[in-house]
Amino acid sequence: MTGQATLADTYRELTEQTLGTLCDEYLPQTSEVCRAARYSLLGGGKRVRGILVLAVCELLGGNVRHAAPLAAGIEMLHCYSLIHDDLPCMDNDDFRRGRPSCHKAFGEATALLAGDALLTAAFELVADAPLPAEARADAVKSLAFAAGGRGMVLGQELDLRVERGPASEEELRAVHRGKTGALINAAVQMGAAAAGADRGDRTALEAYAFDLGLVFQIVDDVLDATSTQQALGKPAGSDAANGKTTFATLYGPQKAMALAEEVTARACGALEKRYGARAGFLCGLARELLRRDH
Ligand code: IPE
Ligand code: IPE
Ligand code: MG
Ligand code: MG
Ligand code: MG
Repeated sequence: MTGQATLADTYRELTEQTLGTLCDEYLPQTSEVCRAARYSLLGGGKRVRGILVLAVCELLGGNVRHAAPLAAGIEMLHCYSLIHDDLPCMDNDDFRRGRPSCHKAFGEATALLAGDALLTAAFELVADAPLPAEARADAVKSLAFAAGGRGMVLGQELDLRVERGPASEEELRAVHRGKTGALINAAVQMGAAAAGADRGDRTALEAYAFDLGLVFQIVDDVLDATSTQQALGKPAGSDAANGKTTFATLYGPQKAMALAEEVTARACGALEKRYGARAGFLCGLARELLRRDH
């Protein structure tokens, strides 16, 4: 196993462990809605956003253990976005993380509320993290800005619009920046907040995060068009069924992947210029996410 894989596993395991522990307090099993939230939250997922929080915190000299609730928080918020994204009124997808979507397992009303519970619990546990008050307020603000009507929710709004007609590359970039880039940037900014980072680091990492988000969604769109439900753990062909314009329909999978490679190279180049060898983990992660198969 390479050092890259070991470190990613360490960050993933810390995120998983923290989620497991905090769930008992913030999403008690006694409620059906909380059980639905736990079903979706604890049933797999790559934990890319949690890994990013911890990797950035460590890169900037912060305490990874103290930042762990932030990693758990962004994963809760991301999970809420997936539950709502799968609902019949959105993408209408019946499968997620290798099993029935939340609304298929628990019904639509409970799934809607499970998403709401995850969204709000995310903020509560970030606010309760063992960090200085300033860092906690900073992390809450980054998460709120990224998740809301100028971030992820805006991206989802624009995404629904590209189901209704053709879209240009510029419009698709705006969709991806919102629906995917915003939460990836929130992860990075929360890691920076936990480490008490300055503006220069924030700006450099923001550029990396939005490039990573664009690549992540291009790859997601290509996989949706070319892979299988078994490999993805969620339906393939969902975008085509919903009549969505994506980078895969706009340019074809090969050209879309060539663009993703270009963006990854640019993101890594910029990060290496600023952080030298210390950028190794984040650049390795970007290259792995480019080559992912699920
Ligand atoms: C899926 O995100 C939604 C997108 C933004 C493409 P992930 O691919 O990170 O999903 P999980 O968390 O691993 O299930
Ligand atoms: C989802 O994008 C983005 C959010 C949930 C915010 P997709 O609709 O492409 O994600 P998948 O393919 O269902 O995971
Ligand atoms: Mg969607
Ligand atoms: Mg979807
Ligand atoms: Mg998709």
